[in-house]
Amino acid sequence: MVAFHQAKPNCWFVVLVALVSAAPAPQITSIVTASPDACAQISPATASFLAQNPSATPTIAASLAHDCLQSVPNKPEPAKKLVNSLQAFVQWQSTLAWLKNPPSSYTLPATDIVGRLSNISATSASGRFASEYDFQLAIFETFTSAHDGHFAFRPDIFKAFGFRNALASDIVSVSSDGKAVPKLYHRADLNSTTTASAITKINGRDAAAFIEELNLRFSSFQDPDSQWNSMFQTYATPGTALTVAASLAFQGKSVTLTYENGQERTEESFAVLRAGVDFAGIQSGEDFYNRFCNPDAASAPTTTVVTSTTATARSTSTVVATLSPTIRGYPSPIIRDSGSDSTSGYFLNGTGYEDVAVLAVSSFSNGANVGTLEYLTNFQSTVEGFLSQSKIAGKRRLIVDLTANGGGFVVAGYELFAQLFPDVEMFQANNLRLADSLVNIARIVDSLPANFNVSTPAQLLAVQALSSSAIISNIIPGGVFRPEGSQFNSVEDILAPVSLQGDLFTAYQATPLNETSAEFNLTGTGTRSNPPPAVFAPENVVLLTDGTCGSTCTLFSYLMILGLNIKTTAVGGRPIAGPMQSIAGVEGAQVFELGDISNVASAVIELGPEVRKAELQNGELGILAEGYAIARATDPRSPGAVNGKNQFASMDAQTPLQFLMQPANCRFFYTAEMLTRPELVWQRVVDATWTDPEAMCVAGSRIVTNESQALDPLFRLSSEPPAVNAESGASGLTRAISLTNMLVLLATVLFSFC
Ligand SMILES: *[C@@H]1O[C@H](CO)[C@@H](O)[C@H](O)[C@H]1NC(C)=O
Ligand SMILES: *[C@@H]1O[C@H](CO)[C@@H](O)[C@H](O)[C@H]1NC(C)=O
Ligand SMILES: *[C@@H]1O[C@H](CO)[C@@H](O)[C@H](O)[C@H]1NC(C)=O
Ligand SMILES: *[C@@H]1O[C@H](CO)[C@@H](O)[C@H](O)[C@H]1NC(C)=O
Ligand SMILES: *[C@@H]1O[C@H](CO)[C@@H](O)[C@H](O)[C@H]1NC(C)=O
Ligand SMILES: *[C@@H]1O[C@H](CO)[C@@H](O)[C@H](O)[C@H]1NC(C)=O
Ligand SMILES: *[C@@H]1O[C@H](CO)[C@@H](O)[C@H](O)[C@H]1NC(C)=O
Repeated sequence: MVAFHQAKPNCWFVVLVALVSAAPAPQITSIVTASPDACAQISPATASFLAQNPSATPTIAASLAHDCLQSVPNKPEPAKKLVNSLQAFVQWQSTLAWLKNPPSSYTLPATDIVGRLSNISATSASGRFASEYDFQLAIFETFTSAHDGHFAFRPDIFKAFGFRNALASDIVSVSSDGKAVPKLYHRADLNSTTTASAITKINGRDAAAFIEELNLRFSSFQDPDSQWNSMFQTYATPGTALTVAASLAFQGKSVTLTYENGQERTEESFAVLRAGVDFAGIQSGEDFYNRFCNPDAASAPTTTVVTSTTATARSTSTVVATLSPTIRGYPSPIIRDSGSDSTSGYFLNGTGYEDVAVLAVSSFSNGANVGTLEYLTNFQSTVEGFLSQSKIAGKRRLIVDLTANGGGFVVAGYELFAQLFPDVEMFQANNLRLADSLVNIARIVDSLPANFNVSTPAQLLAVQALSSSAIISNIIPGGVFRPEGSQFNSVEDILAPVSLQGDLFTAYQATPLNETSAEFNLTGTGTRSNPPPAVFAPENVVLLTDGTCGSTCTLFSYLMILGLNIKTTAVGGRPIAGPMQSIAGVEGAQVFELGDISNVASAVIELGPEVRKAELQNGELGILAEGYAIARATDPRSPGAVNGKNQFASMDAQTPLQFLMQPANCRFFYTAEMLTRPELVWQRVVDATWTDPEAMCVAGSRIVTNESQALDPLFRLSSEPPAVNAESGASGLTRAISLTNMLVLLATVLFSFC
């Protein structure tokens, strides 16, 4: 049985852009000074907007929306309950200890997540938050301070509005020649015949410093250059905009830009009402609270805790009816996917590039119109077709374009590597933080009798929750094995604590990649046991990234970089010379959705021993099962997540990859032309990687890497008893639970607060 786990694509940014692009030029209806009845003005303002623009998405002045938010009272009791609930989920975040005390290789500030949340609770208890908005913004910023695309919580105050500024919405960062440090321009100006004037200041501050400071508060990427790139549009990120142009958080009532030629322009910011939001009858901040922040209020739309939305088996074979031969923003491919718009292959044109093939993989997941299994099967055949065409055409060099790739299905990352280098073993070493609730769950699941009989509907639901969970296979023998290949003999083997950075973790573990299934076999297994040999030699392959490579993209890239010393070239980054990291999205190995954790907690309370029920219910498992934080999310079906598993390199069992520096071998900047012509980026990659790096790479950006393949002895637990019957320690129920952990989706969307 194969379980397909799917994170809901839920980047608010996408939502906001979709709303706004459907609307006419925003008309600010009224500018109101801060007043306690600001919320009362929203319904009339919306009505008058709609009277003028009946089919448009209503917008109001950003300052009016902010005044309304600031009038919503912070209520100490539910606030305390919300933070308590979050603290229980946060225990599952694998990186807490390193975030609190990061190594020098980590470029961002330390953050004590648990301490900050406690402080927020104390501040609320003593009535020192001016509003519910300030309280929830503090929570939100606590999550983003981890700069981890798998770690997110979006609370309910953000249900109502998205803040936008049109003037700042099309800013791009481009260099005159790919080597000179970039400047900021309006994208539209770059097309005009008059010379565009660069933007030097935003709201009176140095523009680059302004952007970097906002990124430190709101970005989910883990270094300043990937954060920078995540702000700007390119061929791979068409919908992107600066935080000041699109955010769930208020970013000021207007934006003022100063240009190199001395000009200055100011434009009011506005708020869009998010889909389904109804302000009718809201007369005060109290009313706002009751409608949007009180899951118990009779008037609130019922937001019950999710039951099984975390593991949605999508229907297969819903291929889009009319498939465009090209992917928007890209040239004519030699091969493309069946509608996900994420995988395509190209042969470069032009003298000096005749032997170069490009595989562009902007994501490891399916689009809205393509089912999971269809995506995986088609990804496999697209890569296969690309490689065989490359071989027939005599291509010798390969660029893998990973720009904007924030991850997707883990198995897709392994599949790509398995086809590129079928003879190379795939190293994996991950671990989970030993939260008390995780240990309890593992032991209760382990204790269920082999001949467990489901006798009530509640038990049936509980068994279903366990078997569709993305978590359970990580804590049972057979679901995972040791990095050097031997089996765990018992659940206690997995839970045997490993102490790192003053915190406790499971044993290092790897996911089986050799299982076969009726639905999908990874290249190298089952019916795909004898794949064709590698088409490209490692020294003829380069990874192109913009630093935002995250999640599954990092699993794939590290196999290439650390395993085979594959070169990397990075594009973009802050307007300074020098090196840039190639891999700086979230480098965790798996995301656990809050709903999944909550469902599993409920299930083990239901299935656990009757005598322990009250005790479990009153402890941390009970808090998780109740899932109050989920009911307090902007979207309870997609409340947020934690990074469930750390990922380690073979030579370092001490520090997760998330906290290590991975410099690219060379870096260049986007030119204006490159933003719409990826083939120019690819040609530059060839020049910068092989032809003339000295001339083509940014000053100081050429870094020689020689990746050691040594295995940290900590991964080699030779003292362990030899593996006996692989599943002797696993009960009947655990064996019945799907062991196929490969198809787990890492966050496709880095939960960006855009
Ligand atoms: C606690 O919160 C207050 C108010 O937000 C802040 O000034 C203080 O620095 C915080 N302390 C810690 C340890 O985070
Ligand atoms: C600018 O030019 C490019 C390529 O010529 C085109 O794709 C793009 O739509 C233009 N943008 C604007 C804002 O006119
Ligand atoms: C190469 O040239 C062909 C023919 O003009 C064109 O269709 C294709 O898009 C070009 N490919 C690239 C990668 O530029
Ligand atoms: C489950 O039911 C079967 C058949 O009624 C019985 O033999 C078995 O003992 C039961 N298992 C448990 C754990 O009660
Ligand atoms: C899969 O690989 C693991 C780890 O090397 C090994 O323990 C297990 O026996 C293998 N399973 C199969 C079916 O080959
Ligand atoms: C995977 O391989 C197994 C064993 O060879 C085979 O039974 C199964 O049908 C294969 N699955 C697919 C999708 O081809
Ligand atoms: C890379 O490192 C290995 C081991 O440290 C060494 O043997 C090898 O010569 C180095 N290669 C290069 C190109 O420096």
